[in-house]
Amino acid sequence: MSKRITITAALPYTNGPIHIGHLAGVYVPADIYARYLRLQGNDVAFICGSDEHGVPITIKAKKEGVTPQDVVDKYNAIIKQSFVDFGISFDNYSRTSAKVHHETASEFFKTLYDKGEFIEEVTEQLYDEEAKQFLADRFVIGTCPKCGNEESYGDQCEVCGTSHNATDLINPKSAITGATPALKETKHWFLPLDKHEAFLKEWILEGHKKDWKPNVYGQCKSWIDDGLRPRAVTRDLDWGIPVPVEGGEGKVLYVWFDAPIGYISATKEWAEREGKDWKPYWKDEDTKLVHFIGKDNIVFHCIIFPSMLKAEGSYILPENVPANEFLNLEGNKLSTSKNWAVWLHEYLEEFPEKQDVLRYALTANAPETKDNDFTWKDFQARNNNELVAIFGNFVNRVAVLTNKYYDGVVPQPNAFTQVDEDAMAAVKAYPSVIASSIERYRFREASQEFMNLARLGNKYLADEEPWKVIKEDEARVQTIMYVALQIASALAILSEPLLPFTSNRLKDILRASELESDWTWDAITEGRELLPASHKIIEKASLLFTKIEDKEVQAQLDKLEASKKANEAANKKVEPQKDTITFEDFTKLDIRVGTILEAEKMPKAKKLLVLKVDTGIDVRTIVSGIAESFSAEEVVGKKVTVLVNLAPRKLRGVESEGMILMTETPEGKLVFVNPDAHDAVSNGLSVS
Ligand code: MF3
Ligand code: ZN
Repeated sequence: MSKRITITAALPYTNGPIHIGHLAGVYVPADIYARYLRLQGNDVAFICGSDEHGVPITIKAKKEGVTPQDVVDKYNAIIKQSFVDFGISFDNYSRTSAKVHHETASEFFKTLYDKGEFIEEVTEQLYDEEAKQFLADRFVIGTCPKCGNEESYGDQCEVCGTSHNATDLINPKSAITGATPALKETKHWFLPLDKHEAFLKEWILEGHKKDWKPNVYGQCKSWIDDGLRPRAVTRDLDWGIPVPVEGGEGKVLYVWFDAPIGYISATKEWAEREGKDWKPYWKDEDTKLVHFIGKDNIVFHCIIFPSMLKAEGSYILPENVPANEFLNLEGNKLSTSKNWAVWLHEYLEEFPEKQDVLRYALTANAPETKDNDFTWKDFQARNNNELVAIFGNFVNRVAVLTNKYYDGVVPQPNAFTQVDEDAMAAVKAYPSVIASSIERYRFREASQEFMNLARLGNKYLADEEPWKVIKEDEARVQTIMYVALQIASALAILSEPLLPFTSNRLKDILRASELESDWTWDAITEGRELLPASHKIIEKASLLFTKIEDKEVQAQLDKLEASKKANEAANKKVEPQKDTITFEDFTKLDIRVGTILEAEKMPKAKKLLVLKVDTGIDVRTIVSGIAESFSAEEVVGKKVTVLVNLAPRKLRGVESEGMILMTETPEGKLVFVNPDAHDAVSNGLSVS
């Protein structure tokens, strides 16, 4: 029976590109689900868009010296392209900066305001005197009151997952200036979650105990059991949607208030474009609403957003929120800021045309019930041992043999043996097996069942050995190849949600578009003939999958290792090495620009060069301890910075009259403090 289904996928924050964790946790499962439901003839709206407000975007903009709008424009384009590249089949991908969204969110707020669903309260919030700004959410870093993590954000601790108020942090510091913030009074609007407690208890704790995933249900229960408190839904910030009521000047809606409304705005935008009515997708009780998210979003989608929808009164609530756990990468937490990630746009540069391989590897190993680890070895094994050796190998044999024996024409079968009957009967069962896995949000299981069908095909050919039988029984081979071609067709049909690019290529190989028969999942279940005798398939089929070599995997591991090193170097705290000096001390130094005229190695001294330096006032001899980093030849002619009033000192019998200033790069390389260089790395002078 056809149903209307609204599927949402978490709106990604637009402060960086997206990586495999996003794909595995949210977008691939959501896409498999949407594609599957469309194939069954349902009326699907698959909705997403960029989450373009919130503090991280402002922080990123500040860091890069650009506007927040520049940041979101840049990443919206990159993210959107990644989704297209990986075949994520959104019906609409919108942005929360869109006009329709500002209007929708604004109106939503006003409705709740007018209905008296908010509490208005003046409270003390953290204020940075230096930046002259209130510090909300990620503008504050401090110790998590629950787990003691010293780098918890104001809104959420990434270590224990607790979400809290910035004022709950112990020892808070401003992320803008590092200053300890003061408390300052300000008015905000709060959504009284406590008021919705009874409803939430009944709806989730009683209503969804059985059908929601245990990880999702468990988080909700612990939230509700802990006691719900009012949550501020406005912020003292300038980036966001202005608070549309009196007294809201200079304030914006909290990003977690506006973003989920983005699902509604994006549906409106889509409906408008398609000439449809958006309302049934959000207001008709017969519509099934499903939110795909990662586990850090559970409270917002299961407690806060539903309370907002309930308070508004005219919306449906989600039927399920199949949140995933986290994906790790080679044993470490994925991290945008630490560049510990496989970025989707980079993956495609390195593995062009291998979108489905990543989709498959991430699905087969999806973090559905617990955090999981992505390793390049596993990726390679999924490709080489499953996609290439089983699915690809089967299809390739079928295409090659059909061309070899019958010039690509599907042969007329003869009487089926028991083996043929069994194979065909087994094939018939797959659509409902895979469907049931997908409907229960068990995408890993679905991918493995699909691979079992390919395995069945592969085994059928291996057991029946048409390449041997052809010598004594040509009639039998016709039947074998006919059966194998039906299995290949079933694979083409059933692979669509999981491996959409491969599905299309396989359909091209089989020339499915020239067929009369309808290629539905039901057709397989009912055992209808998919590929009739005398239909012609393609002559020269290219391989569906190719092997991934060890060196390709090693290159990826090397790249990760390099980013770990770079990150460690960047985070190395450079402590002040010496006591502070006064300005008066500093003015005692007479520093000049000089040119090295001559240089020679000091005999029997590993480190010393004897230089003749033109200081602008005279030419003098300076002994410098740089011989291990520079040869005498390469320093001649160099412009250098010279301390000329250093007391002369004898070094190995040569009087040195001054000092060449040198510095070190973060990697520990010695460089001249070069008066000409524009891009010199200088982080403090060290004396050589
Ligand atoms: N931007 C959030 C994140 O990446 C998700 C927002 S989902 C929405 O964690 F519901 F608010 F849209
Ligand atoms: Zn914590």
